[in-house]
Amino acid sequence: MDKTGKLILALPKGRVLKKFCTLLQNTQFDLVEDPENTRKILLKTKSSDLQVLILRGWDIPIFVSSGAAHLGVVGKDILLENNSEEFIELMDLRIGKCRISLAGQSKEVLKEPRLRVATKYTKLATEYLYSKEIQPDIIYLRGSQEIAPSLNLSDAIIDLVETGRTLKQNSLMEIDVIREISSRLIANKAALKTKGDLIEELKSVILKSL
Ligand code: PRP
Repeated sequence: MDKTGKLILALPKGRVLKKFCTLLQNTQFDLVEDPENTRKILLKTKSSDLQVLILRGWDIPIFVSSGAAHLGVVGKDILLENNSEEFIELMDLRIGKCRISLAGQSKEVLKEPRLRVATKYTKLATEYLYSKEIQPDIIYLRGSQEIAPSLNLSDAIIDLVETGRTLKQNSLMEIDVIREISSRLIANKAALKTKGDLIEELKSVILKSL
């Protein structure tokens, strides 16, 4: 835990960062520095009570479950792969909306008894394929899954789809929407007890901006 008593909120680099920072704009928790114009990782806000930590989305559950960060903004897709007893989901922020889908070159893949699927969502993909009575062959890739079918590395992919542009430009079709996704505010359970008032204040500021 942070010994200075400040609340530390972890935010993910990428598309959601800008949207979330807009929610804090013109509030007492507005950022002092633009996270896109600095290499600093822990940033100040207008409030001496809140600091913002800029991380990769996949690392946020680790920081929040350990208490290194008290709060985090993280995609539901990441939470589905990273359960922890140490944090809870406080709020659906209704930003970062997208979906996890099965995509491939043909809808026929769902008729296969066994499927090679490139994905970073190994848990969700395995559960999904078993539910369709398909034997999963998971190929774990951190990114660029969309190229795997055309190079015959996999038969299909399971990945995030927002506009559908990446699928289209790599000659893939969306076959099945597995789960709708949005960003969630998560909180370390111990921090909820020690910093509950401050967390409530931040929550109500966010709620007003949504
Ligand atoms: C995500 C996702 C897809 C793409 C989908 O990647 O993995 O590749 O966005 O968006 P679209 O439907 O609007 O084309 P992102 O750009 O976030 O980077 P990543 O490859 O590091 O996950």
